[in-house]
Amino acid sequence: MLRYLTSGESHGEALIGIVEGMPAGVPVTRPMIDEQLARRWLGFGRGGRAKFETDQVHIYSGIRFSKTMGGPIAMRLDNAAYRKDKSGWPDVMAIDGDGDGVEKITLPRPGHADLTGAQKYGLDDIRPVIDRSSARETAMRVACCSLARVFLRELGIQVGSHVTRIGEVGYDSPTEYAHHLKGIESAGAESINPDADASEVRMLDGDLTRECIEHIKAVKKGGDSLGGVYEVIVTGVPVGLGSFVQWDRKLDARLGRAILSIQAQKGVEIGDGIAAASERGSRVHDPISAGDRREFPRTRNRAGGIEGGMSNGMPIIVRGFMKPIPTLIKPLGTADMATGEQQPTRYERSDVTSVPAASTVAEAVVAMEIANAVLEKFGGDSLDEIRARIGR
Ligand SMILES: Cc1cc2nc3c(=O)[nH]c(=O)nc-3n(C[C@H](O)[C@H](O)[C@H](O)COP(=O)(O)O)c2cc1C
Repeated sequence: MLRYLTSGESHGEALIGIVEGMPAGVPVTRPMIDEQLARRWLGFGRGGRAKFETDQVHIYSGIRFSKTMGGPIAMRLDNAAYRKDKSGWPDVMAIDGDGDGVEKITLPRPGHADLTGAQKYGLDDIRPVIDRSSARETAMRVACCSLARVFLRELGIQVGSHVTRIGEVGYDSPTEYAHHLKGIESAGAESINPDADASEVRMLDGDLTRECIEHIKAVKKGGDSLGGVYEVIVTGVPVGLGSFVQWDRKLDARLGRAILSIQAQKGVEIGDGIAAASERGSRVHDPISAGDRREFPRTRNRAGGIEGGMSNGMPIIVRGFMKPIPTLIKPLGTADMATGEQQPTRYERSDVTSVPAASTVAEAVVAMEIANAVLEKFGGDSLDEIRARIGR
């Protein structure tokens, strides 16, 4: 099984990641990972950090001569924020000493991990919570999961995504953007990424992109923030990943957990699951066509490629729903943890919206889940062995 762990604080020296279980023989280069890290910085409405973080991965183990060796892969990403002149972060995040003279943060932001995190860990300073709960951590997650993406690509399985809504601007139904996804099954899901990445909000429609940018500008002016919706698509998926036989083997459940594990993601939809709740069964379920006794095509894919917790061979469609960013320029009510007094919130450098970035993180975590499900079904210690088993 593939598993990974991340470590590191947003303003500490670096993020660290370890990926274990990657088969041998997968071709991996540093630019392949850096390319995905750069995509995580995409999006209109990002805060100042996007301008100076370069995110170039350092690899310490598990890869030799541009191929995985089968052992654990250890990686590091430096935080440029920590090294910035006069940033003060080396003092604020010092490993040694007693923190004498470092300001304590005592005003928790509503909607963030601040208050509950400080209560849970018995802290009189919110800084440790701010720094570890921050979505800076997703940079290392993207690095770790990029390896899974490369592995899948070798097997003809591709992952792509696009944003379908930011705040009040977006599509009301998937039929409105279906024309942008025509031919995606044969072209592969990654074929939509260049167009999505070229849009400042990762949307496939030029008019909506412009509308979204105006919306973000107006909301920023009011000191507020926005959430939104994105869609992750996986093509080339073999039939039978995941299983109906046990709750924790269901592929849809595993994808749901992966999406909800990303900071600020509050909803997941598989296929047209949310709309389906208010429609009739005859419109929702995908008819099965005559087949060659091995493959049976579907006339539509409202199930999003998963039935009974298993991939059915159609593209997998997962939508993620992100809440508005909790850090606001416009103050909200909070209480000072030190005095108990009511206070306005303090502002910490922040994005207005991060839905475009979240969509790229979602691609990454979905890739990791699919790669795991592939390994579970087909097994194998090397790419060649898995290729032979899967017949690709
Ligand atoms: C890519 C990405 C970027 C984010 N950027 C910010 C940010 O700049 N400021 C902020 O307050 N929250 C940001 N968040 C959201 C917080 O990390 C998240 O709301 C917080 O950790 C609390 O967790 P919860 O929303 O899952 O309950 C971001 C989330 C993602 C996925």
